[in-house]
Amino acid sequence: MAFTLPELPYAYDALGPYMSAETLEFHHDKHHQAYVTKGNELAEKAGMADLSVEEVVKKSYGTDQALFNNAGQHYNHIHFWKWMKPGGGGKSLPSKLQTAFDSDLGGYDKFKAEFEAAGAGQFGSGWAWVAVKNGKLEIMKTPNGENPLVHGAEPILGVDVWEHSYYIDYRNARPKYLGAFVDNLVNWDYVLERYEAATR
Ligand SMILES: [Fe+2]
Repeated sequence: MAFTLPELPYAYDALGPYMSAETLEFHHDKHHQAYVTKGNELAEKAGMADLSVEEVVKKSYGTDQALFNNAGQHYNHIHFWKWMKPGGGGKSLPSKLQTAFDSDLGGYDKFKAEFEAAGAGQFGSGWAWVAVKNGKLEIMKTPNGENPLVHGAEPILGVDVWEHSYYIDYRNARPKYLGAFVDNLVNWDYVLERYEAATR
């Protein structure tokens, strides 16, 4: 099925002061739209236009780099918008998620330190993740448009560390952006929804 740009689940100015309307306008309307447009063009050429975005990501990995980059970024951004909400973040996790974070990631503080370190330590563009692999949570990082799907894992939380996600608001201060994301933006209800889907 053709890729389509999803609407943001909140107003452009809803995530301020942690992520500005200007960042969201460029990031969603320009960058994500470009992945959708280019992804559709390349999926058509590759004969994958009828596949789901997850199938295109897995099938193009290692075989069609240009298609993979765009399909991967489309998949990543579909979820990225939903992984944030106004008034989100912080350590009040839904109890089922808290239990999993405690047993698999050593608790919230350790998760926060390691997730932010993964994002800060990803050289160049990429993503930091919490993903379910073999039934357990893991913190991962990937370059460019890559994601845990191609490493046998299901992402339940991801943060975009491409400069287009933070440069307008934080300039080069990527760690500050990552701290604000975890403390003030994460939509834990959506993380729980993804966790339940991945462990069903
Ligand atoms: Fe992005």
